[in-house]
Amino acid sequence: MATPLVQLRDIHKSFGGIKAVDGVSVNLHPGEVVALLGHNGAGKSTLMKMLAGAYPIDSGDTIIAGQQVQIRTPSEAQAQGIETIYQTLALADNLDSVANLFLGREKMTPWRTLDDHFMEVQARKVFQRLNKNFTNIRVPVRRLSGGQRQVVAISRALYFNARILIMDEPCAALGPEETAMVGDLVRQLKADGVGIFLITHDMPDVFGLSDRLAVMKNGRLVGTYRTADVTEDEVLGMIIAGKRPEGKPQTVRDE
Ligand SMILES: Nc1ncnc2c1ncn2[C@@H]1O[C@H](COP(=O)(O)OP(=O)(O)OP(=O)(O)O)[C@@H](O)[C@H]1O
Ligand SMILES: [Mg+2]
Repeated sequence: MATPLVQLRDIHKSFGGIKAVDGVSVNLHPGEVVALLGHNGAGKSTLMKMLAGAYPIDSGDTIIAGQQVQIRTPSEAQAQGIETIYQTLALADNLDSVANLFLGREKMTPWRTLDDHFMEVQARKVFQRLNKNFTNIRVPVRRLSGGQRQVVAISRALYFNARILIMDEPCAALGPEETAMVGDLVRQLKADGVGIFLITHDMPDVFGLSDRLAVMKNGRLVGTYRTADVTEDEVLGMIIAGKRPEGKPQTVRDE
């Protein structure tokens, strides 16, 4: 078996008295989509925010492509090829799409000014790849539709060559057509060997896009299964009651 892209081992995180993530282990292989499931407050976003460098972990190990690493900041995560698309589509509302694409990673000229021309040309290319009709890239992103904002958020992952992508409910704010676009993109990135953690509450997305699924409840891992091995009812039983399906093989946690 190839070395996993990501191995999270026995990860813990508390906020005051709340154990948001309580001893969770999960891994991700190249070209694999792992759906991360669970009720509101189960700890999904917190687990992924630790991988993305947004929160420090309390204890546990992060191993990327076989190497133990410490990810303390978002830029340390980016240096490992980890990109995140957040639930809230976190964008800087007053800036335009080009500025958002390069936010924190601006391209400078040799004279230490912003290389605006370069950034616009590059941005136009990557936005066009996702949505041919997206041309108003110089207006503040607060004036864009949910789908256009999603294009900007996803472009950050595409342009900077993510090898590990975290998608936290990427379709929550989108209509059916835009949701289909995200699905196509997931398949395309997967074919390119990108590993994707997909947080979603949507069962058609789980069964349509994921190779494996990991269910969390109250900060703990209920189980990890190949998606093809379980039924929707069994998945719902894990999410709602924390009940593991009988006689179904769990995938090994630390393979
Ligand atoms: N920054 C924070 N400060 C304090 N408590 C937090 C913080 N972030 C998350 N929590 C708590 O940690 C627990 C897990 O929250 P988390 O956001 O990870 O859940 P989730 O599974 O992503 O839920 P949802 O499906 O609603 O997005 C919850 O009890 C939440 O209230
Ligand atoms: Mg969440």
